[in-house]
Amino acid sequence: WLVGAIAVAATLAPQITHAACDPGEELIRFSHVTAESGHPKGEAATLLANRINTELDGRACMEVYPRSSLFNDDDVLDAMLRGDVEMAAPSLSKFEAYTLAFRIFDLPFLFEDILAVEEFQASPQGQEMLLAMSDQGLLGLGFWHNGMKQISANVPLERPSDAEGLMFRIQPSAVIAAQIAALGAESQAMPFSQVFDALESGQVDAQQNTWSNIYTQGFYLVQDGITETNHGIIDYLVVTSSDWWQGLDDGLRAELEQIILEVTHERNRFAFELGELARMRVRQDGGVIRRLDDAAREEWVAAFAPVWDQFRDEIGSDLIAAAQAAEG
Ligand code: LMR
Repeated sequence: WLVGAIAVAATLAPQITHAACDPGEELIRFSHVTAESGHPKGEAATLLANRINTELDGRACMEVYPRSSLFNDDDVLDAMLRGDVEMAAPSLSKFEAYTLAFRIFDLPFLFEDILAVEEFQASPQGQEMLLAMSDQGLLGLGFWHNGMKQISANVPLERPSDAEGLMFRIQPSAVIAAQIAALGAESQAMPFSQVFDALESGQVDAQQNTWSNIYTQGFYLVQDGITETNHGIIDYLVVTSSDWWQGLDDGLRAELEQIILEVTHERNRFAFELGELARMRVRQDGGVIRRLDDAAREEWVAAFAPVWDQFRDEIGSDLIAAAQAAEG
């Protein structure tokens, strides 16, 4: 326990490493909210910076700001439109103020696994989503994966009825809020950086997240246990300002695009393994993991079914059918 807690504390300590950007280089500030290492997004951002700073040295330079050290997810997009940051990768549940196109990714029990998500994103409908915010000045450059979501709480949570009356921290997504309401529980949207303290102090009782977030943020240390529901996903949009992107020199833009494509391809392959590793570490460190048997899983599916009825028309049955057809 103690060793794990120290390891978690170490991963939480500020250790921002910046390349020395030279005058004349195009400065690319990449802001994100998670840990740098042992985390799919953190590792992808680091690889992206390493490649840009090596291959585009003299022309471009990337600084990565992890753990909300520059902006929270709830202010990073406004900051991007003001020109205070060039790139970020918020989860798809954090774009509602700009577009409702990503709501489909929050439908519970829609995707079997992250490979199915990848297949859907690679489809014409998925690729179109990269442009969903172009009229607002934001451009998607690719999707980065994290993993399937689990539910943790300060009480033993086995069946959906165990969640009744609990206060959940959620991301700012109406579909997720509806899930919690369907459980007879309450929810508060809150930036990722505040979740550990809110769980520890009892401001909230429960949350839902991926294994890599649960481990690197130490949520399991202040919760009774984690219920392995695999009911949803956390996936990211690598996003930039359209004006900034279009303002780049053509050659530089093309090279950046290629590097982002390659990093996306390379790191997305490891998202699942990093999640499994984090799960193993949570268990080794004494975290309680509750697996669902088939009957219990059916209860969770049934409990969340009203959310589908609530959002089916707005999201579109055709789009949902296309997502369901993706098998990975
Ligand atoms: C959350 O807020 O729970 C996640 O979106 C954090 C992240 O970026 O993985």
